[in-house]
Amino acid sequence: MAEKKNIRIVLGVTGSIAAFRAADLASAMVKEGWEVHAVLTADGARFLPALTLAALTHRPVHTSLWEEGEGGRMSHLDLAQAADAVVVAPASADFLARTAHGFAGDVLGAVLLATRAPLVLAPAMNTKMWTHPATRENVKILSARGVRWVGPAEGRLACGAEGPGRLAPSEEILQEVKAVLKKGK
Ligand SMILES: Cc1cc2nc3c(=O)[nH]c(=O)nc-3n(C[C@H](O)[C@H](O)[C@H](O)COP(=O)(O)O)c2cc1C
Repeated sequence: MAEKKNIRIVLGVTGSIAAFRAADLASAMVKEGWEVHAVLTADGARFLPALTLAALTHRPVHTSLWEEGEGGRMSHLDLAQAADAVVVAPASADFLARTAHGFAGDVLGAVLLATRAPLVLAPAMNTKMWTHPATRENVKILSARGVRWVGPAEGRLACGAEGPGRLAPSEEILQEVKAVLKKGK
């Protein structure tokens, strides 16, 4: 009988006030039985400690391109190759701009350029940032490349403004990842 393949998810977390909610998402993914490999940007780590994600995913968290991979391997390439899906939640405005233009100066950007796995993005930012023409252009570029979007949801934002910009609920992000995985089979 063929062995059941583990599902490997790369979960990127960027520097948004909503980053703490990625802990809940990581936990829900682990409950699905998925291997969750968390990648935290430098500014993501200001909002959510790597230790929290490591404890919830039961694995080390990738925070630097310069970490030594097992047996001298390049871990960003291994992650890129092994991923069944890459999910970035929350995805910051700056991250969207970098990704739209193929920046690979950090571990998350390098994984994204090196992978061919489907990409699910859950943006979170202030409404003015989300509706700014620069962000609209970046969203357009990424959509044309096949990115699957979850949210942002509308409502009251951390800054006190009302409008689109809230991180989508974990359950919605999880459902989208399941749909992407199903499609890839
Ligand atoms: C308190 C605080 C909250 C922030 N929240 C957000 C946010 O929700 N969304 C966003 O796009 N940027 C937010 N920023 C700005 C980003 O952290 C900043 O653009 C950062 O460079 C993003 O880095 P990263 O994409 O590499 O993680 C926030 C900054 C601060 C100081």
